[in-house]
Amino acid sequence: MSILKIEPFGERLIAMRRHLHANPELSHEEFETTATIRRWLSEANIRIADFPLRTGVVAEVGGSLGGPVIAIRADIDALPVQEETGLPFASLNKGKMHACGHDFHTAAAMGAALLLKKKESELPGTVRFLFQPAEEKAKGAQQVIASGALKGVKAIFGLHNKPDLPVGTIGIKGGPIMAAADGFVIEVHGRGSHAAIPEAGLDPIIVSAHIVTALQSIVSRNVGALDSAVISVTRIQSGTAWNVIPDKAVLDGTLRTFDPRVRKRVRERFEQIVAGIAGAFETSAEVSWIEGPPAVRNDAGWAERASRTAEKLGLRVVPPAPSLAGEDFAFYLKETPGLFLFIGTDGPHEWHHPAFDVDERALEHSASYLAALAVDALQQL
Ligand code: NI
Repeated sequence: MSILKIEPFGERLIAMRRHLHANPELSHEEFETTATIRRWLSEANIRIADFPLRTGVVAEVGGSLGGPVIAIRADIDALPVQEETGLPFASLNKGKMHACGHDFHTAAAMGAALLLKKKESELPGTVRFLFQPAEEKAKGAQQVIASGALKGVKAIFGLHNKPDLPVGTIGIKGGPIMAAADGFVIEVHGRGSHAAIPEAGLDPIIVSAHIVTALQSIVSRNVGALDSAVISVTRIQSGTAWNVIPDKAVLDGTLRTFDPRVRKRVRERFEQIVAGIAGAFETSAEVSWIEGPPAVRNDAGWAERASRTAEKLGLRVVPPAPSLAGEDFAFYLKETPGLFLFIGTDGPHEWHHPAFDVDERALEHSASYLAALAVDALQQL
């Protein structure tokens, strides 16, 4: 029996989420997921829009009366995490897991599409659904934008499950809600030597240790106490043997910020500190930045209007604490105004944990909310 025939509606969405959960695929490899979404859309007679995407799907509901176009985005990819939930519908794909709940997002957006399909002829515009690949690599949003699927879109909405909010709550806030997420690689170039003859070499490990410590002073001394930044060095690689001073060390990590001025200032200080410390030890070092998505900045007007829609449905709106995690939804908001919101899913663990889970009771009202938000948005544009 097709999942789309399951009644009641909430059970149908849960079946969809579980199907996706059991069959997770990594960023850029979401071929089965894409085929599944396309099948569900076709079975429901929902129009699949023709945009050039390798993985991911764009679908549309409405438009017969003309009117504006708005977009709802759901990310569809999973993570390289070995699942440890013990759930009966746990991942069948070893080492891959929907540990960020993108299965939930996809099922919620599918649900909204099904609800809107029922009143398609009355819709005062078009709702374009962006089932986006590769969010975890922060590449998918840019692919969707490059495909042309954001052209003509007057407002865009996206959601993320939030394990620390109870079911029945929605976190909505204007301004920054998720951080700019940059990566960095530092290469320290020293000179190798015998471990017992350090004066013949230039030890990159000593230099790395000083760099790691000094970088932590940026947040405490160069960022205002009311601003936010995180610098984490997450990997250090150097050396091959206990009795050899290596000639090189590589350090990786990430920088998270909300404010573009803070981001710029931290990066300046970062480079000064790395170069200064390397120079003080007669070595040299290079910093390369891996540009991540900018901060997700919500439109204040849409935050206000979306809060009213939530209250109409009896959902409790709470002002969420911004998250220092990154989200490539930020790229859409650079192109068009909109809103990224949190849905309370009362999970046992934070995002990306091997025992991450969502409370599926949040699915049905997430779908209803997205559908209602789409209708309200079209009416207000
Ligand atoms: Ni996520």
